[in-house]
Amino acid sequence: MADWDLLLTNARIATMRGSGVPYGAIDNGAIAIKDGRIAWLGANDALPAGTAEAQRSLDARWVTPALIDCHTHLVYGGDRAAEFEQRLGGAGYEDIARAGGGILATVRATRAATEESLLASATARAAALLRDGVATLEVKSGYGLELDSELKTLRVARAIGATTGQDIRTTLLAAHTVPPEYRDDADGYVDLVCKSVLPAAAEQGLVDAVDAYCERIAFSSKQVEKIFDCARRQRIPVKLHADQLSDGGGAALAARFGALSADHLEYTSPAGVDALAAAGTVAVLLPGAYVTLQETRPPPVELLRDRGVLMAVATDCNPGTSPLLSVREAMALACRVFGITPEEALAGATRNAAAALGLADDRGTLAVGKRADLAVWQIDHPRDLSYWLGSQPLADLFIAGQAATLR
Ligand code: NIG
Ligand code: FE
Repeated sequence: MADWDLLLTNARIATMRGSGVPYGAIDNGAIAIKDGRIAWLGANDALPAGTAEAQRSLDARWVTPALIDCHTHLVYGGDRAAEFEQRLGGAGYEDIARAGGGILATVRATRAATEESLLASATARAAALLRDGVATLEVKSGYGLELDSELKTLRVARAIGATTGQDIRTTLLAAHTVPPEYRDDADGYVDLVCKSVLPAAAEQGLVDAVDAYCERIAFSSKQVEKIFDCARRQRIPVKLHADQLSDGGGAALAARFGALSADHLEYTSPAGVDALAAAGTVAVLLPGAYVTLQETRPPPVELLRDRGVLMAVATDCNPGTSPLLSVREAMALACRVFGITPEEALAGATRNAAAALGLADDRGTLAVGKRADLAVWQIDHPRDLSYWLGSQPLADLFIAGQAATLR
C-alpha cells in the first residue's frame, strides 16, 4: 500500500507532457505527493489503494505545472520610468544607451544600493511572480559590471528564495554592457570577466549559467565567444541575449556553444533558426520587451515552430525594456503579438522554460518523479491563462509539495 504526504483528488490536470492530447489533460484526476515529488498521477478511478497524511479535493479546479520564469533581471536599484516617458516622446533605446543612460543608469543605481535594499525590492518582485503561479525563476546579474557588485547581485538573487520559497536559478550576465571604467576597452572588460568575475562567482557557487548580450550596443560575437569559452572550460552552461535589435548572428553563436537558450530573437535569420534546431537550443520569447520598445519585427515564430525549436516565454522583468511582473501576462502578450497558441504559451512557461534552465528532467510537466511544483487555478480551461489580461486566477501554489503563502 502506498503511503503519501499529500493526495489531491477531483482535479482537472493539464500535465503539459506533450503527449498529443491537448495540454496533456486528464479530466478527473488525482495527484499523490511524497517527499516533494509526484508519486502517482492519473485518473481518479485508477488511484491505487494508499494512505495519505493529508487529502484535499480540488473540486474540479485545473492544475498545471507551476510556472517557471526562465529570464528575469529582477535584482536592480532605482527604476527607469522617466526613460520610458522619454522614449514615448520619441527618444530611441539605443540612443539613450549610447548617451550613458539605459542599462548604465541602472548600473549606477545598483552599485550605489545596499544589499538589504536590493533584497527588499527584488523579494517584492519575486512575490508578485509567486502570486502569479511562479515556483522557479531565473535571475540574471548584469547591473553591477564589476566584481563586487556582480557578486552582490547574485547573492541577493539567491537570498530571495528564503523568503518566498521559490527556487532561484542565478545567471552571471557580467557581459550585459561595457561599464564606464572600460568605456574604450571592451576587450579589457571581457578579460576581467573571464579572469576575475566569472571564476570568483563560480567559486562561490553563485553561477548556474553564463549569459551575454550580443548586440551592437553591447558585445560582439568575438567577445561573447571568449566569455563562452571561459564558461565552457568551467563546465557552466551558457545562454545568450541574441538578435534583439539587429541580426548579429547571435542565434547561430548560441547554437555553436550548445547554449541552453537563445533569447529575444526578433532579428534571427532562417539560418539562425536552423542552427537552434540542430543544437536543441530553446528559443525564449520575450514579448514584454518587444511591446515596451514598440518593436515591429516579431521573432520568426512560424519558422521556429516548423523546425521544431522549443519555444519558452518569460517576463524579461527589468527596469528598462520590460517592467513586467507576470508570466501569465507574458503568455497573453506572446499569443497576441507573436502569434503563438495558448497551449504553446503554457508549454513555454512550464515544460520549455524548464528546458531553458536545464531542468527539463526535474520539473515543467506533471509526471511521476517530477518535483511537485503545481499551480491550482480558478479557470474553466487552461487556455484562459492566456485569454485574460489582468486576471488573478491562482487559487493555490505548491512548491516541492508544500503550499506556498500567497498573501
Ligand atoms: O533583456 N537586452 C538586454 N537586456 C535587457 C534590457 C536591460 C535594460 O535595458 O536594462 C533585455 O531586454
Ligand atoms: Fe533580458
